[in-house]
Amino acid sequence: MTNPYEAAYQQSIQDPETFWAKAAEDCHWFQKWDKVLDDSAKPFYRWFTGGKINTCYNALDYHVDDRGRGGRIALIYDSPVTHTIKKYTYAELRDIVARFAGALRDLGVTKGDRVIIYMPMIPEALVSMLACARIGAIHSVVFGGFAAKELATRIDDARPRVIVSASCGIEGQRVIPYKPLLDEAIRLSTSRPQSCVIFQRPQETATLLPDRDVEWDTAMQRATPADCVPVAATDPLYILYTSGTTGQPKGVVRDNGGHAVALKWSMKAIYDIDEDDVWWAASDVGWVVGHSYIVYAPLLKGCTTVLFEGKPVGTPDAGAFWRVISEHNVKCMFTAPTAYRAIRREDPQARLLQEYDMSGFRILFLAGERSDPATIQWSEKHLDVPVIDHWWQTETGWAIAANCMGLHRFPVKYGSPTKAVPGWDVRVLDPANEELPPGEIGALSVRLPLPPGSLPTLWENDQRFVEAYLSEYPGYYKTADAGMIDAEGYIYVMSRTDDIINVAGHRLSTGAMEEVLAAHPEVAEAAVLGVHDALKGQVPVGFVVLNAGVNRNSEEIIDELVAMIRDQIGPVAAFKKATIVKRLPKTRSGKILRGTIQKIADNREFKAPATIDDPVILDEIKGALEKIGLAEARK
Ligand code: COA
Ligand code: AMP
Repeated sequence: MTNPYEAAYQQSIQDPETFWAKAAEDCHWFQKWDKVLDDSAKPFYRWFTGGKINTCYNALDYHVDDRGRGGRIALIYDSPVTHTIKKYTYAELRDIVARFAGALRDLGVTKGDRVIIYMPMIPEALVSMLACARIGAIHSVVFGGFAAKELATRIDDARPRVIVSASCGIEGQRVIPYKPLLDEAIRLSTSRPQSCVIFQRPQETATLLPDRDVEWDTAMQRATPADCVPVAATDPLYILYTSGTTGQPKGVVRDNGGHAVALKWSMKAIYDIDEDDVWWAASDVGWVVGHSYIVYAPLLKGCTTVLFEGKPVGTPDAGAFWRVISEHNVKCMFTAPTAYRAIRREDPQARLLQEYDMSGFRILFLAGERSDPATIQWSEKHLDVPVIDHWWQTETGWAIAANCMGLHRFPVKYGSPTKAVPGWDVRVLDPANEELPPGEIGALSVRLPLPPGSLPTLWENDQRFVEAYLSEYPGYYKTADAGMIDAEGYIYVMSRTDDIINVAGHRLSTGAMEEVLAAHPEVAEAAVLGVHDALKGQVPVGFVVLNAGVNRNSEEIIDELVAMIRDQIGPVAAFKKATIVKRLPKTRSGKILRGTIQKIADNREFKAPATIDDPVILDEIKGALEKIGLAEARK
C-alpha cells in the first residue's frame, strides 16, 4: 500500500514536470513559465524557463498584499549575546527590506550586480539578502568566521559592486571587529567594490573611509522604498562559496524560480511546518542551512523564523536552546549534531531542560554532518520528540535524504538519514558507473536532472561545474559522499570521497589548509587530515615535513603554522594541532597514505599497506600523534 511519501516520490521521479508544476502553483509568478523542465542544453538543466518571479515578493509582499497576513510575525531576533529580543511582522520586514533595496539602488546596484554580505547573525543580514533579491541583485554571503584572505578570494570571484558589513560580530563574550577584516580583504583583492555599507553596532564603532563607506542608518534615511523587480526564474538569486578541493572555493549558484518552489514545498513535506508555526534553524546565515532555512524557506512559507545570535553553550548556559524553544513556542528546530554534543557534554542529564516548558516542541532535525546514534538517542530520550537526521549539501540547497515528516513518518534506523526525498533519484555507483545492489558501498550519486533548487552551475564556471560534479559518473551528479542504500531504501552516508572535512558542522577543505602550510618557508611537505573529535565530529591535524637543515624549535614552527591557517582561512577552521614528522608515509608511487594515518589518529586498527615504501615511518607517525594527545600511547 502506498503512503503519501511513496506517491509523491514516484511521481517526482516518473513525471517531474507535473509534480513540480503543481508545487510551483503555490508561488507568486509575474509571468508563468513556458517549460517546467528545460533539458535542451544537457547536462545543464533549467527549471521554469520563461517564468518571471521575484523571490523577495514571494517571501514578504505576497504574505502582506495577497494573503492579508502582514501582521503575522515573520522574524524573531533572539540575541543572548546582546540581551535583545526583537520581533518583526511581515509588513514591517517588507518595509525595511524595500527601503534597504532603495539604498542599494541609490548606490548603483541593479539587476545582475553582485553584493557581498559579510555580517554577523543580526536582522540586517537577512534584510540585505532580501533587499538584493528584491531588485534582482545577486547576493553572496560570506561567513564571519573566515579570514580576510578568504573574503578577498570571494570578492575577486564575485566582483561585487557593493559590500554590506557590520562593525562587529559577537562570539560568546568576545567582540570581533569585522571592519578591519573587511578593509584588509579589500586591500588584498584586485576587484574593488564601489561602496561599502556598514551597520554600526553599539559594541564597536567602525572607522569609515569617506569616499567608499556609508553607514547603514545614513543610507536608509536617504533612501526611498524600491519595488520588486521581476526576474527570470533562471536568473541567479545568490552565489554561496563552499570549500572545494583547492584553495579556490566553488561559487554555488542558486536560481530564483526553482529555489522558491522547492524550498516552499519542503517546509511542509520535510519539516511539517505550516504558516502558523514557529520554526528555528540554529545555524549561521553564512552557511547554506542559514540561507535556505533561516531566511528563504520559512519566509516563503509565511511562518515565523527565529534568528539566534548565540551558541548552544555559554550564552549563558547549556539551556539556551530550551529557553528559545519555550520562549518563542518553536514547533521544530534544525541544527547540526555538534550543537547537541556540546549541550550534552555540559549537561549530560539535561537538568536545565526541567526549567522550561517544551510542550509545543515537536521535532528536532539534524544535518551538516553524520548524526552519531549516541547524540540522536540522547536527544530522543530527553526531548521526547522524533529526532530526524537528514542529508544535504551546499550544492543541493535542500535535503537529498530525509524522513519526510509532512508526508509519512518512517521508523528511524540509526545511522541513516532515511530515504531519498521526492525529486532526488539517488543511486549507488561503482567506478564503472554501474549501479550497485542494496547494501553495497559505493559513490552516492543522483540521476540527472537534479530537482529544482539545486545548483544549476558554478558562478561563471560551467566547465568546473561539469568537471567537479558531472564528468566522473556520466548521467549523474556526484555527491562526493560514499555510502549505500539498504533493501528498504534507507540511505547511509559514510564519508566524503574527497578531502572535505566537517568541523563542528562547518565544511572545510584539507587541501586548502595544505596549501597554506606548504607556503611556510621552512616546510617541505604537509598533509592535513580530519581526525575524529568528540565534540566537533572532526578537527584538522597537520603533519609537516621540514626542509633539510631546518633546526629551529619545532613548537615555534607549529605556532606559526597554526597562526597562518587562522590568518589565511580563519578561526572557523579550528586548526590547533600539528606535528612535525621526518617523512610522510607514502605508497611506492608517491601517494600519501592518508587512510592509514587517519586510522592511527582515530585509534582504529591499521595494517601497513602492501604498497607502503617504508613501514617504519608508521611508528614515527604514531609516536608523533601520541605526543600531541592523539593516538593512544604505546602500552
Ligand atoms: N565570526 C567570527 N568568528 C567566528 C564565527 C563568526 N561568525 N563563528 C565562529 N567563529 C570562531 C569562534 O569564535 C572560534 O574561535 P576561537 O578559535 O578563537 O575560539 C572558532 O571560530 C571556531 O568556532 P566554532 O566552530 O563555533 O567552535 P566553538 O568551539 O566556538 O563552538 C560549537 C563549538 C559546537 C558550540 C559550535 O561550533 C556550534 O554551535 N556549532 C553549531 C553548528 C552549526 O551552526 N553548523 C552550521 C551548519 S547546520
Ligand atoms: P555542506 O555543504 O557544508 O552542507 O556539507 C555537505 C556535506 O556534509 C555532505 O557532503 C556530507 O559529507 C556531510 N553531511 C551533511 N549532512 C549529513 C548527514 N545527515 N549525514 C552524513 N553526512 C552529512
